Amino acid sequence: MSAYTSLQQTLSHTPRTWLITGVAGFIGSNLLETLLKLNQQVVGLDNFATGHRHNLEQVQTAVTPAQWSGFRFIEGDICDLDTCRSACKSVDYVLHQAALGSVPRSIEDPLLTNSSNITGFLNMLVAARDAGAKAFVYAASSSTYGDHPGLPKVEDQIGSPLSPYAVTKYVNELYGDVFARCYGFTTIGLRYFNIFGQRQDPDGAYAAVIPKWIASMVKREPVYINGDGETSRDFCYIDNTVQANLLAATSIDDAARNQVYNVAVGERTTLNQLFEAIRTALLPHFSHLADFKPVYRDFRAGDVRHSLADVTKAQRLLQYQPTHTIAQGLKVAMDWYVNDLTRHR
Ligand SMILES: NC(=O)c1ccc[n+]([C@@H]2O[C@H](COP(=O)([O-])OP(=O)(O)OC[C@H]3O[C@@H](n4cnc5c(N)ncnc54)[C@H](O)[C@@H]3O)[C@@H](O)[C@H]2O)c1
Repeated sequence: MSAYTSLQQTLSHTPRTWLITGVAGFIGSNLLETLLKLNQQVVGLDNFATGHRHNLEQVQTAVTPAQWSGFRFIEGDICDLDTCRSACKSVDYVLHQAALGSVPRSIEDPLLTNSSNITGFLNMLVAARDAGAKAFVYAASSSTYGDHPGLPKVEDQIGSPLSPYAVTKYVNELYGDVFARCYGFTTIGLRYFNIFGQRQDPDGAYAAVIPKWIASMVKREPVYINGDGETSRDFCYIDNTVQANLLAATSIDDAARNQVYNVAVGERTTLNQLFEAIRTALLPHFSHLADFKPVYRDFRAGDVRHSLADVTKAQRLLQYQPTHTIAQGLKVAMDWYVNDLTRHR
């Protein structure tokens, strides 16, 4: 039995209280769904900056009424320390996801990104420490590798950040580390590599590539590739991410705590390959995609050229075992997007 299966069994018999910040967002709402299905008590905090009420409504329909009654939602901003303090009250584990994502957004408005991603992060750390949380797991980012040329990316070899967003995520790691050293407070950073799956927002200027391309292909809109399409990423399905969060929060291994981990699959996909995989998967439902081609345009400022994770540290210390490759994840996500896009839009 995998460590994750065993953890799920233990949790379902011994409910804990979890705080998920950014609970109305993509990753937060998936963490919520999994934890409620394991009969956990969950407090959720979100200000709907980029998250949606309909994500919470979808989780409600996916769980039983009894499981849903274990959820308490606080609408509020992590930039307000009192809000963070009341959210952290009596919480065992914090899964801190709230932040403003997107490299281009941070280049356009670094102050806004800084306030949620650094001031808000520090508020949450202080509030969680003072409330006596057992562990503070936070969403770090592969953008921290910046201009380091090494592949695959190994946790202790990073370069200079290439965007204000990357600076904020690196500062999170520095604060996480210092809170462990100065206050003995357990922090674990999860460097997410391009996560994808159900409820990832396909709309808006800062949408992530997979949902954006699926939506564009379904709606017969152009798909843009920034650069020559040979830029590569390690796309990671949401279930792998949820697994890493739960294993990290509950780890009792001293060597595993106060660390930063890559969360990915260890599989490299170029944008050209991704375009073809999505087009081929959608083709049986949408015949207009038979000779559909992408539109190539300039490289985007701040983007890293190649990204591929070494996930052996998470495998060794957290017993992380990704359950979905990109192909397996895309298949599940695609069905969800096709249903969602044809139902609501
Ligand atoms: N999705 C990815 O591929 C990826 C990759 C690397 C890191 N991350 C990080 O993972 C986390 C979750 O990302 P996501 O993809 O689910 O994005 P998302 O935008 O769907 O979710 C973020 C949530 O945080 C909330 N939020 C933002 N600022 C807030 C504030 N000041 N107060 C309260 N709530 C606030 C938003 O409303 C939203 O619901 C973020 O920290 C992001 O930087 C994501």
